[in-house]
Amino acid sequence: MRFHVLTLFPQMILDGLNTSITGRAIERGILSVEAVNIRDYANNKHMKVDDYPYGGGAGLVMQAAPVCAAYDALAERAGRPLRVVYMTPQGHTFNQQMAQDFAKEEDLVLLCGHYEGIDERALERIVTDHVSIGDYVLTGGELPAMVVIDAVSRLIPGVLHNEMSSETESFENGLLEYPQYTRPEEFEGMRVPQILLSGDHAKVDQWRLEQSVARTKKFRPDLYEKYISKREQAE
Ligand code: ADE
Repeated sequence: MRFHVLTLFPQMILDGLNTSITGRAIERGILSVEAVNIRDYANNKHMKVDDYPYGGGAGLVMQAAPVCAAYDALAERAGRPLRVVYMTPQGHTFNQQMAQDFAKEEDLVLLCGHYEGIDERALERIVTDHVSIGDYVLTGGELPAMVVIDAVSRLIPGVLHNEMSSETESFENGLLEYPQYTRPEEFEGMRVPQILLSGDHAKVDQWRLEQSVARTKKFRPDLYEKYISKREQAE
C-alpha cells in the first residue's frame, strides 16, 4: 500500500514513520510513505502558501492553488483520481472500521492542514473523506495522519510478524482485549491466573472471552451495549 501525505512539514511524517514496525515494513517494500511538501507547489517566488482569511479573523488560511496542484501531480502520476483523507477536528471520528476500509486502497492520500485550515474550495475539489482522531484540537494534521497510517498499516498482510495478532485484539470483535501475562509466574507476590498455566486451550479461550467482556463492560459501556445487542440479534 502507498500512502501519500500532503503537508507543510514532510520531515515530521518521515521521522515519525521510518522507525519501528512501519519503518521495517517500508524497508521491506510492503508499504511506502511519500511526504509531499505543499510548499513545493507554491506558485510565487516567495514560496508563500497561506494568506489572510476573507472576512477577517485571526490566523492564516492555506491557499487552494498549491494544495490542489500537489494533489493533481499525484493523481496524474497514478493515472486516476485518488481517495483523499483530510485530517480535521470537524471530521468523522476515526475508528477500527475506518482503518479496515482504508486498508483496501492501493493508494491513500492524507491531507494535513495548518493554521486556520485550508481554503474550502480546495477541500471541495479534492477531499473524499473528512477524518478526526478525537475531540481535541492539535496544531496540525501531521500527528493525526500518522495515527491513521499506523492503524491502517498494521492491517496490511505482512506488516505484523504475527498475522493473528491484529485479529484477536481490542476492537476487532467489538470488545477490549483480555489481560496478558508473561514470565515470571509470580511478580511481587502477584500470581499469573492459574488457568493460563493449565494448558487447556478451550478453557483459556473461554476465560479470555469472559475477561474481554468484563473489561469492556467496565471501561467502555458504550461498546458493551453494542456487543450485547449484536449478540441478541444473532440469537
Ligand atoms: N487537526 C487538528 N486537530 C485534529 C484532530 N483532532 N483530528 C484530526 N485532525 C486534526
